[in-house]
Amino acid sequence: MAGRVITIAQQKGGAGKTTLAIHLAVAWRLAGKRVASVDIDPQGSFTAWHELRAQALGDTGLTHLRLSGWRTQREVEQLAREHDLVVIDSPPHAETEAKIAVRSADLVVVPVQPSPMDLWATRPTLDLARSEKRPVLLVLNRVPARGKLVDAVSDKAAELGVTVAGAHLGNRIGFAAAVMEGLSLQETERRSRGAEEIEALAAEIAGRL
Ligand SMILES: Nc1ncnc2c1ncn2[C@@H]1O[C@H](COP(=O)(O)OP(=O)(O)O)[C@@H](O)[C@H]1O
Ligand SMILES: [Mg+2]
Repeated sequence: MAGRVITIAQQKGGAGKTTLAIHLAVAWRLAGKRVASVDIDPQGSFTAWHELRAQALGDTGLTHLRLSGWRTQREVEQLAREHDLVVIDSPPHAETEAKIAVRSADLVVVPVQPSPMDLWATRPTLDLARSEKRPVLLVLNRVPARGKLVDAVSDKAAELGVTVAGAHLGNRIGFAAAVMEGLSLQETERRSRGAEEIEALAAEIAGRL
């Protein structure tokens, strides 16, 4: 069976797309999967992280490609033939590129911070996925340690007709610290709460594919 393509999409910048792409790619690699990581955001942060990773580790464990333009869809299909999972980090606008990334996806993963503004801001992304007939999974990111906000935002998301992942990510400085070293939190602090969160999320998403 061909590999599965997971596109991380969210038109709001700073929602955690690249952080999520990095951590999911590594989590699946650590779980023994063949993983390709694809950066189609012109900002290139996924690629910058991968370059740091190559410096730190030599073999990054990932097939990384930076793609743009008309070749993108065909390249992604090729990667899917040779890998179990393809993780795509997409740009924060409804450009052609973002559309291609959503169109190529078996699942569109949408990070959202638990606030009403952030939830409302996901509308264009949900509309895009809907128009391309792709399934969506909302992932709550930077969830504060306390508060009932998660339930409230989950309920609102359910009203929008979108599935919310049971696993979510806390607001943890360790995610950024790991990324700065070309690593993931599972590699820098294996026993941390954040590492457990990402492992649970990666398993949940894999189970939905
Ligand atoms: N779960 C988290 N905990 C703490 N900081 C986070 C978390 N997720 C993302 N961040 C931080 O938020 C900022 C934006 O994240 P990023 O992944 O670059 O978002 P995007 O790619 O959607 O623009 C970065 O500084 C990142 O380190
Ligand atoms: Mg980004």
